[in-house]
Amino acid sequence: MSVTILSIESSCDDTSAAVLRDREVLSNIIANQEVHRQYGGVVPELASRVHQQNIVPVVEMALRTAGVERRELDAVAFTRGPGLLGSLLVGTSFAKSFALALGVPIIEVDHLKAHILSHFIKSDDQPVSPRFPFICLTVSGGHTQIMRVDSPSDMSVLGKTIDDAAGEAFDKAAKIMGLPYPGGPHIDRLAKEGNPHAFPFPEPRIKGFDYSFSGLKTSFLYFLRDRLKENGNFIEENMADLSASIQHTIVKVLIKKLEKAAAAEGINQIALAGGVAANSGLREALQQKAAEKGWKLFLPPLRFTTDNAAMIAIVAYYKFLEKDFASQEIVPYTKSVF
Ligand code: KG4
Ligand code: ZN
Repeated sequence: MSVTILSIESSCDDTSAAVLRDREVLSNIIANQEVHRQYGGVVPELASRVHQQNIVPVVEMALRTAGVERRELDAVAFTRGPGLLGSLLVGTSFAKSFALALGVPIIEVDHLKAHILSHFIKSDDQPVSPRFPFICLTVSGGHTQIMRVDSPSDMSVLGKTIDDAAGEAFDKAAKIMGLPYPGGPHIDRLAKEGNPHAFPFPEPRIKGFDYSFSGLKTSFLYFLRDRLKENGNFIEENMADLSASIQHTIVKVLIKKLEKAAAAEGINQIALAGGVAANSGLREALQQKAAEKGWKLFLPPLRFTTDNAAMIAIVAYYKFLEKDFASQEIVPYTKSVF
């Protein structure tokens, strides 16, 4: 018997709905919120309002694209947290009422688990999945952590950021250079033309497998402030080299701790997840490291790296098999449970 799940992701500023049949994606619709661009970051109040406007058309489109009738759905899944409370409430409330009307169970999903298990979505561009146990580096706008994954329901944190996330480091550096939000993809694009060794930035010194990125942002800011005193056009004239240098530093820091954690756990199955997994510099550096260390590396297709509902549905699929359903009383959480 196959399982058909409708899933909703609304933790931050993207409204997404997907339909999966077992592990296969039938549709994965994402509506981005352009409104935040002018503010240089996500405005929570605006995000929840736009989710309210988007949710019904996005779900309708997901069902239509999948060619699935409502009565064919076995469950409705939603992101319970972590994320912005107002945004999460829209998806949670919608999922509850939609499932109640259909008479099917609801399944609550943790957003970070979903990024990790996106590796188990079956698609032509993702023919193989990691074997357990594996190590996953999750790098997004809100989170940066190294996880040991023993099964779809058993994962533990080996290291995480003590302040900014890697995506935040990209976005803040981009903002300092006057680039639009989110800045990560802009830095990635500009870095391709620049010299990664043009401007060396200090690496944070943090114990164990944890990360810290706030100091890097500050040294980037002070460095530019000093250079701008001598040359008012310093940023414009060095945009590519600055992008390449900051990206090089972030990537180096990310990989160093990952390498340490992999060695300590004796695991050579390594996966990458989260929005920053789209970064071409990180992907290339990981491929090089994998070749050097003999890692079996899993880089997700780009469409599964940034926030999307297909990754919510894959977690829900495993929970459905365990009959791990939520009650109608369930409420969202905003902070990471790991
Ligand atoms: O996972 P995600 O879509 O949302 C969160 O859960 O945070 O990640 C968004 C983050 C943003 O910080 C964005 O700048 C970053 O991922 N990002 C990138 C790239 N594409 C997205 N950072 C660097 N290079 C990219 N190509
Ligand atoms: Zn995310």
